[in-house]
Amino acid sequence: MNKEDIIKRRTFGIISHPDAGKTTLTEKFLLFGGAIQTAGAVKSNRIKKAATSDFMEIEKQRGISVASSVMGFDYKNYKVNILDTPGHKDFAEDTYRTLTAVDSVILVVDCVKGVEDLTRKLMEVCRMRNTPVIVFINKLDREGQDPFDLLDEIEKELNIHTRPLSWPIGIGSTFKGVYNLFEKKLQLFSPAKQTISDDVFDITDLNSIELDNRIGEKAAKKLRDDAELIEGVYEPFNKDLYLDGYLAPVFFGSAINNFGVKELLDTFVQIAPEPRPRFTETREVLPTENKFSGFIFKIHANLDPNHRDRIAFCRIVSGKFERNKFYQHTRLDKKFRFSSPTSFMANEKSIVDEAYPGDVIGLYDTGNFKIGDTLSEGELMFYKGIPSFSPEIFKELVNKDPMKTKQLEKGIQQLTDEGVAQLFTQQQGYVKIVGTVGDLQFDVIQFRLLHEYGASVEFTKLPYEKASWYTSTDKAALERFNMVKKYNIAADKEGRPVFLAESAWALKMNQDNFPDIAFHFTSEFKTDPNAIRQANAW
Ligand code: G4P
Repeated sequence: MNKEDIIKRRTFGIISHPDAGKTTLTEKFLLFGGAIQTAGAVKSNRIKKAATSDFMEIEKQRGISVASSVMGFDYKNYKVNILDTPGHKDFAEDTYRTLTAVDSVILVVDCVKGVEDLTRKLMEVCRMRNTPVIVFINKLDREGQDPFDLLDEIEKELNIHTRPLSWPIGIGSTFKGVYNLFEKKLQLFSPAKQTISDDVFDITDLNSIELDNRIGEKAAKKLRDDAELIEGVYEPFNKDLYLDGYLAPVFFGSAINNFGVKELLDTFVQIAPEPRPRFTETREVLPTENKFSGFIFKIHANLDPNHRDRIAFCRIVSGKFERNKFYQHTRLDKKFRFSSPTSFMANEKSIVDEAYPGDVIGLYDTGNFKIGDTLSEGELMFYKGIPSFSPEIFKELVNKDPMKTKQLEKGIQQLTDEGVAQLFTQQQGYVKIVGTVGDLQFDVIQFRLLHEYGASVEFTKLPYEKASWYTSTDKAALERFNMVKKYNIAADKEGRPVFLAESAWALKMNQDNFPDIAFHFTSEFKTDPNAIRQANAW
């Protein structure tokens, strides 16, 4: 395999709180990459626009979005893969999982709203694996907050160091342009222009009178003062610190006006990481290894009853994937070959003969995959790092048709394998609790169980708001906790014990009262087999 094929790839996600401008920025990138000809072609994130809770409508749109789950395009000498993340907050868990398949992210922040709820959560997920982050502060054409204040807010709220690489000249009605601190170039803003702005002016010396001529004396003075302050306050940009996830370079612009986007993209391809190594349970796997391996991070089911197929999305970690070659499904210990693996270029799907580390391919699946599965050329390996996140809404699944118990059992297992929701059980499986991050998933499950498995169910709301996995090295403490909290304990699908708390406050109280118990908010931790056995006893 040619190393060039690997190092030219940039696989990343654009993330933001809904409405900050993720879709618009994605579209502009695709325009620059020549992958689409007109804006408005990326429909995927329009899902969030459905103010309705009608999930079928959302699913219909999600169907459209399969093709745009991965948007690949060539830019300069790079092959860029943007992994789409759903805009709807109820699908946040999908987004978290997609982040395990990227090598870096661009985080979009609205300059008026600053850091928002989902921005915080998404950053926490990035932090878990030190994903390199570039920040794009958007909507500079609006009256937003002061840029220095925004940087302070990002540093404080998101717990990351920042380094501006571009700087706005004015904001809102006084927004004149962006100064590229990285390349020392001035780009002036012309909002009426729908095309890509080429009004770029090289200015190596900020003291040049040319700057005053271009943007006016007042703005020129302000830019000089700001630039001096930036040089004084912020460390020079250090690419290694960015790659370690410690420092986020920041760009300013206006995605809708195509402003500041090219600077962002140009710098992104230069500094963003090439496909990175990943860890299995036993070792680190390098992208340059000859043998193919990859993992499934997303499963998309087709709700159309005439086409009941599913697509499993596989991120290639090492080696070359080849069509029609047999690969080992390590969990099932079975060989599979794929006759029509799909690649995604912009909004087009096509069958590929081969794919490389950093690429994502779609594999047609009849129910063999679950999230987190590994494919290899024979080595018994399991990729780590596809966590389940602690859900926030819990409902008991009530079987309304005892004749269909088997179908229900199969259905709920498969749907939770797809990652639609998490399943917890009590009393050896008799009590089934479904946990999600959004209410919509309950409608999805109810509908799909009925239409795909013929099982009729209802949900009863449970009083829990928080769940956490727990472990302890102190056997006696664990036993005591299990005894005292008996009614608040369930087992997850792997049999690990989970503590269900009525509120964040109740959880905190238990953390204080049981200092020997370690509480975990994602499923990614080392499990003590004893704890599993004990939970299974419930
Ligand atoms: P999202 O995917 O992060 O949820 O955001 P999206 O791109 O859909 O953008 C949210 C809204 O913000 C859209 O307006 C979009 O046009 C607008 N927007 C994006 N970038 C900028 C910008 O630089 N400046 C300003 N002023 N607005 C921007 P909308 O009215 O909700 O939708 P639409 O009718 O324009 O599609």
